[in-house]
Amino acid sequence: MKVTVFGIGYVGLVQAAVLAEVGHDVMCIDVDEKKVENLKKGNIPIFEPGLTPLVQQNYAAGRLHFTTDAQAGVAHGTIQFIAVGTPPDEDGSADLKYVTAVARTIAEYMTDRKVVIDKSTVPVGTADKVREVMAETLQKRGSAIPFDVVSNPEFLKEGAAVADCMRPERIVIGTDNKEVIEPLRELYEPFNRNHDRMILMDIRSAELTKYAANCMLATKISFMNEISNLAEMLGADIEKVRQGIGSDSRIGYHFIYPGCGYGGSCFPKDVQALIRTAEHIGYQPKLLQAVEQVNAQQKYKLTEFIKQHFGHDVKGKTFALWGLAFKPNTDDMREASSRVLMETLWELGAVVQAYDPEAMNEAQRIYGQRTDLKLMGTKEAALQDADALVICTEWQNFRAPDFDVMKKVLKQPVIFDGRNLFDPERMQARGFTYYGIGRGASIKPVI
Ligand code: UDX
Repeated sequence: MKVTVFGIGYVGLVQAAVLAEVGHDVMCIDVDEKKVENLKKGNIPIFEPGLTPLVQQNYAAGRLHFTTDAQAGVAHGTIQFIAVGTPPDEDGSADLKYVTAVARTIAEYMTDRKVVIDKSTVPVGTADKVREVMAETLQKRGSAIPFDVVSNPEFLKEGAAVADCMRPERIVIGTDNKEVIEPLRELYEPFNRNHDRMILMDIRSAELTKYAANCMLATKISFMNEISNLAEMLGADIEKVRQGIGSDSRIGYHFIYPGCGYGGSCFPKDVQALIRTAEHIGYQPKLLQAVEQVNAQQKYKLTEFIKQHFGHDVKGKTFALWGLAFKPNTDDMREASSRVLMETLWELGAVVQAYDPEAMNEAQRIYGQRTDLKLMGTKEAALQDADALVICTEWQNFRAPDFDVMKKVLKQPVIFDGRNLFDPERMQARGFTYYGIGRGASIKPVI
């Protein structure tokens, strides 16, 4: 099938690449000329496992095209994806200016029937807005070409985006016109394996499903972080509690890992956007507000431990930091816990020696040259003469370090672990003072 994708960001590029991979003819449109030129040369703007060969091979095979020519894009696909960004505006609501601009462009140039698919994460009611903008634009042209607007949210995870798109757990389709179901079945047929993964619903339910999924996941994390704070005060080990509750099939083991807070481009933005939507319609979303507050507070957890250990004066101390990305297998530092940690340590006058397998350039881009941030080439180099080690991201190669070398090069054998990578008892036996989240030296029973 002929498909057009507007917006070559994370969602758009991955979706386009996997659609091309199964044989569809996909044209990607972006306003950023440099990005388009780079993609044609095979330079992928994001780090995502498996994406580079997928894009290069499908581009070479002529199934994936990149252009800034919006008119050509509209002419190309019967199916037109809107996958542009919806950044938060000043009050945290999703800003829809890019989405409506694409809607206008499609209506401006279309000469035959189109199925317009909202792939971006957009607030409930956006499909109606897209429809309105398109109808207005067509009317101005004196045209009455029919079109459909469908909500088909994306559920991919960074670091596993290609796999998630290739083998989706569900394909949510929100539509008010049964006629579009068939072309969408054809489009997604190659991904709809083993059993029918298409979940059909009305448009508003599909729009809300995306927010509800992310907010539910964020809730699980904030819930566990809250229990981990209680575990510290009650003298319990959160990792034991996690296993104890995860074994209940109604709760399950997934997504109940306590840590130094969730980050990334989705959870913080989507929780905030749903809160704003609720407030705009006069509803106080108390649970979502708490989810956000618990997370904001949790990002200061490691600095609290540092102050607890070293006292409030850490001026002139050097902290090794392992992990800058908001999670492993990405170079994305949006809303990463490492940023709150570094910025707080800098305010206190400390120096950070950081290492991340992928996010070093991103850290350089965000913070530039500063004397209190040293970006080190290896995880071992980051430890050199540091007063303690802090861990913010659970990269696989942080899990089995050489503890003897570590003890030798650190000034003091102290670890503040925001991802609970190690066993507190074994760390103690190895001679470390080990702070975990809800465990280890962090446990300070108050009763
Ligand atoms: C998320 C959703 O998982 C995905 O379905 C949606 O489409 C986009 O948002 P992503 O932001 O890529 O994906 O990352 P995810 O793997 O969900 O992790 C988000 C954050 O939660 C990370 O900072 C991670 O460290 C944290 N996390 C995750 C926890 O603290 N504990 C957990 O148990 C799981």
